[in-house]
Amino acid sequence: MGKVQIQNVTKLFPGKVMAVNDVSLDIEDGEFVALVGPSGCGKSTTLRMVAGLEEITSGTISIGDRVVNDVPPKDRNIAMVFQNYALYPHMTVYDNMAFALKLRKYPKEKIREKVSKTAAILGIEALLKRKPKALSGGQRQRVAVGRAIARDPEVFLFDEPLSNLDAKLRVVMRAELKKLHQKLKTTTIYVTHDQEEAITLGDRVVVMKDGIIHQNDSPLTVYQNPTNRFVAGFIGTPPMNFFDGHLKSEGRDVVFDGGCFTLRLPESRSQKLAARAGEKVIAGIRPQAMAIDSTRIPNEAQAVLPIQIDVVEPLGERMDLYARVGKDLPVVARIDALSGVAPNSDIDLIVDMTRVHFFEPNDEQKTISEA
Ligand SMILES: Nc1ncnc2c1ncn2[C@@H]1O[C@H](COP(=O)(O)OP(=O)(O)O)[C@@H](O)[C@H]1O
Ligand SMILES: [Mg+2]
Repeated sequence: MGKVQIQNVTKLFPGKVMAVNDVSLDIEDGEFVALVGPSGCGKSTTLRMVAGLEEITSGTISIGDRVVNDVPPKDRNIAMVFQNYALYPHMTVYDNMAFALKLRKYPKEKIREKVSKTAAILGIEALLKRKPKALSGGQRQRVAVGRAIARDPEVFLFDEPLSNLDAKLRVVMRAELKKLHQKLKTTTIYVTHDQEEAITLGDRVVVMKDGIIHQNDSPLTVYQNPTNRFVAGFIGTPPMNFFDGHLKSEGRDVVFDGGCFTLRLPESRSQKLAARAGEKVIAGIRPQAMAIDSTRIPNEAQAVLPIQIDVVEPLGERMDLYARVGKDLPVVARIDALSGVAPNSDIDLIVDMTRVHFFEPNDEQKTISEA
């Protein structure tokens, strides 16, 4: 069974660099987990400890039902794919894919069979006689993945495998990796700094920062219910808008007062937040939670945010408005492409108040509870 258990794992590098700080994470057999976070947050170190390429300072890692803390990498039954592919330059594609199998003394016929089968899955049969330098970036990446598949491991470990590809190819390869996982169902830990890649690929998304896991949930939950302001700002394109302000009571309603604007909360949320009236909060509004066309948002959820548009970025079906509220509060809205929305004009955005998040000021890790 290819489940992976990371229990209270810490990595302290010399010089007191706390790369991974008491991380616990269970990955079920067959699951695809995307580990995402900004550069330096400890993703690669976590993965390398699972692979056995980095010693663990404290904690336990198990693969299947076996604790592997002291098991050398070659005996862990994992296969890792790196950002730089790490192909052997002097070997053909065939030999690159066959290498690990030869080391394990597989019979020649068996190796041939495994390599051909893998090459067929990845559509690289025609490349088997070439050397890596005669391949494009995308082809090299396929070979690196092929080398991992041919070994038939219990667990795949990917460390930013698509980062060296151009944007278009990255999207194509992303879909291929997803398809491949649906076919092979091999337990996978996939590390990336790209939140979009994590959201599109992962059955589960684990968001890290400064060596700590901030959230571990389905992609939809991470997007819709971020546990804190860091996750809220990190996940989503364009990033969530944040406004400093405070909550206040107006009759039976609760209103968010952002200084130069106010947003009225719907009844159900007003009741839950009434006790917080008078408190300072940060409001988080996704660019996608706003519209110009009022039919897009249910009546009772609507609040009006007057903006001055600075820049309009057309995206085809949608467009991004880079705008200001009041004198100089920046706001970004992603709305349906409409004609007549022009820079330097004043318009009313409609905010879906059921989708506004509230966070504690002064503490990036706290969300305001409405339980
Ligand atoms: N061999 C090392 N020696 C000292 N510090 C390291 C070493 N490898 C990584 N680090 C540090 O550990 C932290 C996490 O690094 P890493 O796991 O590579 O982050 P990520 O993959 O998320 O970008 C960073 O602060 C990095 O500088
Ligand atoms: Mg890394």
